[in-house]
Amino acid sequence: MQAKRVWAMYWSATDTTKRVVTAVAQQAAQALAVPLKEYDFTLPQARQGAPDFTADDLVVFGTPTYAGRVPNVLLKYLATVEGHGAAAVPVVTFGNRAFDDSLIELRDILSDNGFVPFAAAAFVGEHSFSTTLAAGRPDADDLDKAAQFGREIAARAAEITADTQPITVPGRGRDERTYYQPRDRAGNSIDIRKVKPKTSEACDDCGLCAKLCPMGSINPENVREFTGICIKCGACVKKCPKGAKYYDDPGYLYHKSELEEGYRRRAAVSLFL
Ligand SMILES: Cc1cc2nc3c(=O)[nH]c(=O)nc-3n(C[C@H](O)[C@H](O)[C@H](O)COP(=O)(O)O)c2cc1C
Ligand code: SF4
Ligand code: SF4
Repeated sequence: MQAKRVWAMYWSATDTTKRVVTAVAQQAAQALAVPLKEYDFTLPQARQGAPDFTADDLVVFGTPTYAGRVPNVLLKYLATVEGHGAAAVPVVTFGNRAFDDSLIELRDILSDNGFVPFAAAAFVGEHSFSTTLAAGRPDADDLDKAAQFGREIAARAAEITADTQPITVPGRGRDERTYYQPRDRAGNSIDIRKVKPKTSEACDDCGLCAKLCPMGSINPENVREFTGICIKCGACVKKCPKGAKYYDDPGYLYHKSELEEGYRRRAAVSLFL
């Protein structure tokens, strides 16, 4: 293919996926001397549509890893995004534990939808639950790797055809994939599905959290009230200018500290080309 455009397309609640995908796509666009386009589908209104991709597009496509998979709330939307032969590079981020089956799942989704996923990557992002787990990542070293990877995919793009096989990445087959299950010390499952952040006295009702909730679940008239599900994405907690959003659920807090204690080592970036 002769790429005429490079896209940074991503879902990113706390901006780590956005930063990685943009760094990769920016370098690829520069190396190919073509325009860089962006499609951010983090907010509900952006999931009403998608770009009209063609075989002239090279799409760097990113989501975080949630419970070892592509966030399941995105699956319905992702099934509607058609590639029409566009070359694609699935990119996942993960919060220092593991990406498990998220990259292979994203590759399969893209391939099923008419994209040609010829390269892939898993980068590390500060964990949505924490400010110490993979703190500050992607950092300068990660972003250098992202830029280098962008140049490499650009160099490879000319060889890509409709018959190019999907890139091989680690992970289980479609029928074997499960979701990562947090457990307590006794081995019992911790169920955080119903957990939602609380709002402290520090809130000055600026309304920002209602605007940036990817599920559109915070009532703009009363930011203490939920109008839909919470996926624990961390956007309202990390982006509140007053630090007013917090969790007090014991299961959630236990799981967060287990992750912080258990995954202190620096997890590596994985590139597939
Ligand atoms: C509900 C949920 C589940 C997560 N599951 C995992 C996981 O299985 N493994 C992991 O390493 N990180 C996990 N993370 C962390 C995110 O993948 C990571 O912080 C990512 O960089 C967030 O991307 P964003 O900044 O683009 O929102 C999870 C985060 C959330 C909110
Ligand atoms: S972003 Fe923070 S201060 Fe603003 S309304 Fe939400 S909780 Fe309140
Ligand atoms: S309410 Fe839940 S889903 Fe919405 S921004 Fe906050 S953590 Fe994310």
